[in-house]
Amino acid sequence: MEKIVIEGGRALRGEVPVSGSKNAGLPLLFATLLTSERCVVRGLPHVRDMTTSLRLLEQMGARVGDDGSNGMVVEARTLASTEAPYDLVKTMRASFLALGPLVARTGHARVSTPGGCAIGSRPVDIHLSGLERLGASIRQSHGYVEAEASRLQGAPVPLEFPSVGATENLMMAATLARGTTTIENAAREPEIIDLADTLIAMGATIDGAGTSTITIEGVRELGGFDHVVIPDRIEAGTLIIAAAITGGDVFVRGARPDHLQGLLPKLEEAGVSLEARDGGLAVSVPAGLKAVDLRTAPFPGFPTDLQAQFMALMTTARGRSVMIESIFENRFMHVQELVRMGADIKIDGNSAAVRGVSHLSGAQVMATDLRASVCLVLAGLVASNTTEVSRVYHLDRGYERLEEKLTALGACVRRVPAGSTP
Ligand code: EPZ
Repeated sequence: MEKIVIEGGRALRGEVPVSGSKNAGLPLLFATLLTSERCVVRGLPHVRDMTTSLRLLEQMGARVGDDGSNGMVVEARTLASTEAPYDLVKTMRASFLALGPLVARTGHARVSTPGGCAIGSRPVDIHLSGLERLGASIRQSHGYVEAEASRLQGAPVPLEFPSVGATENLMMAATLARGTTTIENAAREPEIIDLADTLIAMGATIDGAGTSTITIEGVRELGGFDHVVIPDRIEAGTLIIAAAITGGDVFVRGARPDHLQGLLPKLEEAGVSLEARDGGLAVSVPAGLKAVDLRTAPFPGFPTDLQAQFMALMTTARGRSVMIESIFENRFMHVQELVRMGADIKIDGNSAAVRGVSHLSGAQVMATDLRASVCLVLAGLVASNTTEVSRVYHLDRGYERLEEKLTALGACVRRVPAGSTP
């Protein structure tokens, strides 16, 4: 296992590009199971979750290859298997997005339940009750979900929570159902819109993506697509916070204000200057940072995937910030590591009170999940001396060449083998 070593105290300056969105790319890859025709997904980030997804698609019988111009080609002409095995699903829960497309296209799917992870129990009940409303028979045994349907039947599908994954699974399944499906209380994230745009390009009839009510008219079959994935709004937010935490002056190319509606007002309230121009956002901190309160919420609220990063920002802001995590039940794993760096944070249930301190000090810290790992890198950028973040395989699931991007902005960040002394 490798670790990342950061020498803190340098203000970031310059321009940095945002990569393609991991959380938009994943459902697009599974949407290729809905057709026998050639699909091309362009701009995917080179991160481990993509590799895992492509391996799973190949295991099912799809042909996968790089077209040499930033496009990943997937052709699921015939499917040798309609199963997503435990050994792959356990490494990446988004593999559960194979369920809806498989049962819609072939009438059968056997997918390992993803199980929990560091941030929560992550149940899939909303996915399963939605598929049952579409006429699938669902059986659960030995850690697998088996879904069968001669042909799915469109229906109203109210979601008890605007689950992103459930909305994606059900939207994909409904495209090949007989009749009309209406997903109520649907997730509104930009990734939902990107998936809908792609499904429409394949021949689906979908209205309302991005609102709480999505209507899908089923068709008999879908064609291929050639689609450029949207920029990664969570990486964009992470890079914006990296600029702010170091008091830097950075242009984040590809950052879209319409994708960051929950984050930008909170940053401005904290004293960060943000200027939208030339297809990106210019970030600076003219007069220091002050503490702000926030609560995570489904889009367009403050994204849970930026909670840890924003907390790092608040550790050295003036005043006291109360941050409430309302999406996942265990998403404060980064707090104790930040406290080891000198942060003053008290947890009370799903609320964390962050009192700004004059400075953080470098330490050896351990990543526990994808966004906690990047939060510790951000803290290391502003801490005095050296910070070592271990278990960076978590980081590699969702950030493409992060240390290169930060180094190009003037940070002193290196990736070294775990056992080495920096
Ligand atoms: C997606 O996960 C993202 N992952 C997550 O990003 C993100 O944190 C999450 O949406 C919320 O925005 C991908 O897109 C691959 P949910 P997902 O279903 O779809 C509960 C990252 O760091 N729930 O919207 O799994 C669930 O327990 C990752 O990139 C049920 O109760 O999220 C959670 O409390 C982390 N039953 C809440 O809903 C269900 O059937 C939100 O989950 C499904 C979800």
